[in-house]
Amino acid sequence: MTKKFKIAYMPGDGIGQDVLEASKLVLEKADFNVELIPLDIGFTIFEKEGDPLPERTIEALKECDAALFGAITSKPRSDPSVQSVEKKFGTTYRSPIVRLRQVFDLYSNMRPSKSYEGNPLNFRKIDGTVPNIDIVTFRENTEGLYAGIEFESLIPELKKLPNFASFQKRTGAKDEDIRVSCRVFSKGGCDRIIRKAFDYAKETGRNKVCVVHKANVIRATDGLFLETAKNIAGEYPNVEWWNENIDATAMWLMKRPEEYSVIVSSNMFGDIITDQAAMLTGGLGFAASASTSKDFGVFEPNHGSAPKYAGQDKVNPIAALKSMSLMWEWLGLTDLSEKLEKAIGQNVIEAKVRTYDMGGNSSTTDVAKDIARIFESS
Ligand code: NAI
Ligand code: MG
Repeated sequence: MTKKFKIAYMPGDGIGQDVLEASKLVLEKADFNVELIPLDIGFTIFEKEGDPLPERTIEALKECDAALFGAITSKPRSDPSVQSVEKKFGTTYRSPIVRLRQVFDLYSNMRPSKSYEGNPLNFRKIDGTVPNIDIVTFRENTEGLYAGIEFESLIPELKKLPNFASFQKRTGAKDEDIRVSCRVFSKGGCDRIIRKAFDYAKETGRNKVCVVHKANVIRATDGLFLETAKNIAGEYPNVEWWNENIDATAMWLMKRPEEYSVIVSSNMFGDIITDQAAMLTGGLGFAASASTSKDFGVFEPNHGSAPKYAGQDKVNPIAALKSMSLMWEWLGLTDLSEKLEKAIGQNVIEAKVRTYDMGGNSSTTDVAKDIARIFESS
């Protein structure tokens, strides 16, 4: 008897429900001994209970091997629906995704961007050629500008800093007109994500890492990131590596994306370049991610809840299916992972069953069924 896996099933809001329902159709065909544990997360549950990530979800996740996650709706603090719920329950809305990452220390956000042969959405260069893109980005997921260390009113300590005083003098901004978001990096935080990228490059035989930063301007934090990369790179003599400023990467991704293989970057830069890389390889319907710690992982499509398509069985399930493939890979079930990857590739090449974003008119369920059929027969 193979190991029984306990997998959290968190569809969340909007199309999160549609795409996880679709994932089940493939899951059912897999030789995968699994107990799915449905758990609450998202805006709908926030409206009901005042918390988008109830304590019982966190506790249940601690008992699971991994989690499949759909998407959530999140709204700004100024939104009347947020304010009325906060008032009713006496709570404050906090992003359940950011919280999940922090509670479970999901420091590594791995995002593959791969062009499938025959995908009409693949990036085409000015000369008409379609490059073969296969990039895996490792984005630090718990630090940097998303660490949540922000000030909406000035703290006195800040005012004492000479460079802050000169900023205020130069801009003439009043105290109440200034807001501060801190970019905080730790040596350990840089170390573990960079190591993760180099290990991955070595283990997969990709042997190529590009370290993306802006160390010439953001000297303290990205200086640390680059310095750490230089030290770590020495431990991987067979991995070729280089470093680039984020703005150069944004440019070269449009010119010669096929030259990148593994990229590692900080939280916000990683977020932005992976959206760009996603658009080069099929858009949101194809973008998946694995957020992992040493012993837990949450696997999700990068898209949101797309409220206008919610419940319409219309959107592309491939991003969610790719997330499941990443989960199997992370669980060590490489055969299942590769089989699903191949089935997705086959569906794209056959060009018969496609959702609207790829120019087709098939439903979410139709595409998932087609991929499940190929998966089962291979
Ligand atoms: P979104 O990703 O939900 O949708 C933007 C547009 O992209 C859609 O209207 C649709 O045209 C297209 N799209 C998205 N997923 C698709 C798919 N699987 N197949 C085909 N087309 C697809 O982003 P939006 O509209 O900015 O945000 C909607 C809500 O989702 C907001 O409340 C936002 O805060 C939240 N959000 C949640 C995320 C998450 O749960 N990880 C990530 C991004 C946004
Ligand atoms: Mg993003």
